[in-house]
Amino acid sequence: MSRELMQQNIEKAQREIDTKKEMIKNGKMRQHYHFMAQTGWMNDPNGLIYYKGKYHFFYQYNPYNGFWDSMHWGHAVSDDMLHWEYLPLALAPSEPYDNHLRGGCFSGSAIEHDGRLFLMFTGTTNEGDGFEQTQCIAYSEDGIHFEKYEGNPVLTAPDGIPTDRFRDPKVWKHGNMYYMVCGASRDNNALALLYRSEDMFHWDFFNVLAESRGEWGFMWECPDFYRLGDKYVLTFSPMGSGEHTAVYLVGDFDYETGKFDYHVNGEIDWGFDFYAPQSFLAPDGRRIMVGWSNEWEWMPLWKDWGPTYKEGWCGFFNLPREVRVMEDGTLQFVPVAEMEMLRENPEYQDSFVVTEEEKELKAGEGVSFELKMKIDLEKTDADKVELIIRCGEGKKTVCRFDFKNSELSVDRNEADGWSRGVSRSTMFLKGKSELDIHIFSDQSSLEIFTDRYQNNHSSNIFAGDRQNQLKIRAYGGSAVISGYESYGMKECFR
Ligand code: FRU
Repeated sequence: MSRELMQQNIEKAQREIDTKKEMIKNGKMRQHYHFMAQTGWMNDPNGLIYYKGKYHFFYQYNPYNGFWDSMHWGHAVSDDMLHWEYLPLALAPSEPYDNHLRGGCFSGSAIEHDGRLFLMFTGTTNEGDGFEQTQCIAYSEDGIHFEKYEGNPVLTAPDGIPTDRFRDPKVWKHGNMYYMVCGASRDNNALALLYRSEDMFHWDFFNVLAESRGEWGFMWECPDFYRLGDKYVLTFSPMGSGEHTAVYLVGDFDYETGKFDYHVNGEIDWGFDFYAPQSFLAPDGRRIMVGWSNEWEWMPLWKDWGPTYKEGWCGFFNLPREVRVMEDGTLQFVPVAEMEMLRENPEYQDSFVVTEEEKELKAGEGVSFELKMKIDLEKTDADKVELIIRCGEGKKTVCRFDFKNSELSVDRNEADGWSRGVSRSTMFLKGKSELDIHIFSDQSSLEIFTDRYQNNHSSNIFAGDRQNQLKIRAYGGSAVISGYESYGMKECFR
């Protein structure tokens, strides 16, 4: 019976998608090469996995409208993480544990078990006195059609953990055991709970993996935990932690005791629009992370879903990034090498001097492009260099390298008439001879990677097509740019 109800709800959603998708496809603000849903609203990446020869991305999804509501799981597959085939929705609300207004099938992960593809997700109801969250299972024989486990939920919140702050299971296998980390809160401090299981259905609490002592908020959403080199990495998106939207901890982990001893922490991305990242292992051993890009900081206004809402959609994923660990335990987040396959119309320049006079640069058609360059710090005496991006019609976004104050900032106050704010981070350039910069611009977003992919800013800007100029200038001296290369980007979604 319940199997039928989910099927009916998926078919109903699918009909809605089919009627709207062609119209939405032509939306002016649609991305050219960032992953998006066909219609409606999407948020977190869920269930990322390389399974039977394809990349599978699932995502938090409301197929009906361009705003957050009762959550389904969208599903798409790809050979290269660039071009996507949409599959039928994987999950729709249908059960007492996931079937209430503003609840649904919340975030979770995927794993292969017993020859089947398993999804573990948070069933959420809203009975009027807050969300009730439990951990649930669904599985599939063919990796396309899923069935919820009859014995759901498989896990409820332990004593002391509020039932509305117990969500987002990320599962992995080690030896013969399954492990799962889940976001939670205790006495208004965030924590990551570690569980283990022999069969995916029976779960025992193992340990608290890490917890906030006030510095990282009251709740961690979408925790993720994995081995990288000889270290272990915990990532999460903290709620109630100011400008921190995606944090990483690096340390040592002991499977005997469940103790995670971390000694390094950092920010995955300082921009306004990078949230709830999840990672998975590519077949060649790369650890790949994908984050959700959305106007999260405007959420308190609740009713302002941003400009794309008017086109019937909202939300996309940031570019997949390979996570690498440096010798000192800090992490790098490098756009996957697959991105190079989209390059067209290259421009190269060996070296040039930038002064206080604005200089035009060329990168694709100026809207959708990739740009790489270095600032030669030994030959630069300017206090500040500004890259002015998506400029035109009196609007611009300014990426500012302020050497005097060691600050990198991205200012979108004049970007599009809607976006606001300046994201800031500290540049650590002592002893370095150059600063590397790598930028991806798409129709509605900018991703700026600097300093060996350790100081990154991802922010949405809803700039029009005529905002297609790119300029650079220096202040208080001159700057030398070396190794300039730029490309237009081939379309993946039109
Ligand atoms: C993070 C999040 C998750 C939750 C999901 C609901 O963006 O709030 O904690 O599972 O979104 O859509």
